[in-house]
Amino acid sequence: MLTISDISVSFSGVKALDGVSFEAPSGRILGLIGPNGSGKSTLLNVVAGVIAPNRGRVLLDGAALPAGKPDAVAAMGVARTFQVPRLARRLTVIQNVITGVRSQPGENLATLLFAPAKARAAEREITARAFAMLDRLGLTHLANHAAGGLSGGQQKLLSIAMAIMADARTILLDEPAAGVNPVLIEQQVGLLKSLAAEGRTLILIEHNMEMVADLCDQVVVLDSGQIIAEGTPAEIRGDARVMRSYLGQAPA
Ligand SMILES: Nc1ncnc2c1ncn2[C@@H]1O[C@H](COP(=O)(O)OP(=O)(O)OP(=O)(O)O)[C@@H](O)[C@H]1O
Ligand SMILES: [Mg+2]
Repeated sequence: MLTISDISVSFSGVKALDGVSFEAPSGRILGLIGPNGSGKSTLLNVVAGVIAPNRGRVLLDGAALPAGKPDAVAAMGVARTFQVPRLARRLTVIQNVITGVRSQPGENLATLLFAPAKARAAEREITARAFAMLDRLGLTHLANHAAGGLSGGQQKLLSIAMAIMADARTILLDEPAAGVNPVLIEQQVGLLKSLAAEGRTLILIEHNMEMVADLCDQVVVLDSGQIIAEGTPAEIRGDARVMRSYLGQAPA
């Protein structure tokens, strides 16, 4: 379980987050919604250790995550995907998936020198896992294509695949459905459901309310860096404050 406790972040005096607290249980997908600029991505950056908050902390199963240390947070099994996927565009799809694995025994020099058979076996195991992952995503036919040539939706699937390969138990998703065609959104929904069913914790930022309603038991609504509502998707939909907060901005 992920506990967000009293997080505040200011950017040169402007409060992007102001005392935000909530819990994201394991095996569930928590929706994080709110108008543009309300602090959603900033919050994911705090959890991922990219931004150290001015106040508050994030706990993973009761243990504090190191603030402002993205590598240490990743090593604790927390992965994030970006609004714009960050892939090695010139590498192939399968090479990118393999890169998702945090520690590759084959790359350990001592293993290579003194136990080459072991290194080769580990390499084969990782490659097999990577191909199984592509299969799960329906991307096998693109394994040897450059990642940069994939559609936006396929790139987002690929970046989720990399989080799974790194064995992340907590996955932070920043607008995974933005600019993705309906068929691939459906595929992504199936994948996210299966990840939650495996007991992982997911936090999903998404403007696509249909997807949020389909995936999330609990939704947290941010506006100007504060939580203005939380509840089930149905409760959120009927909340007058949430409606006003969304009506106050031009449609995205
Ligand atoms: N690195 C930064 N430096 C200065 N201000 C920032 C920085 N990152 C975010 N902000 C500001 O913090 C506020 C929250 O931004 P954030 O990106 O978290 O919003 P968001 O809810 O993800 O919006 P969107 O839906 O448009 O992605 C905004 O006012 C934004 O301009
Ligand atoms: Mg954002």
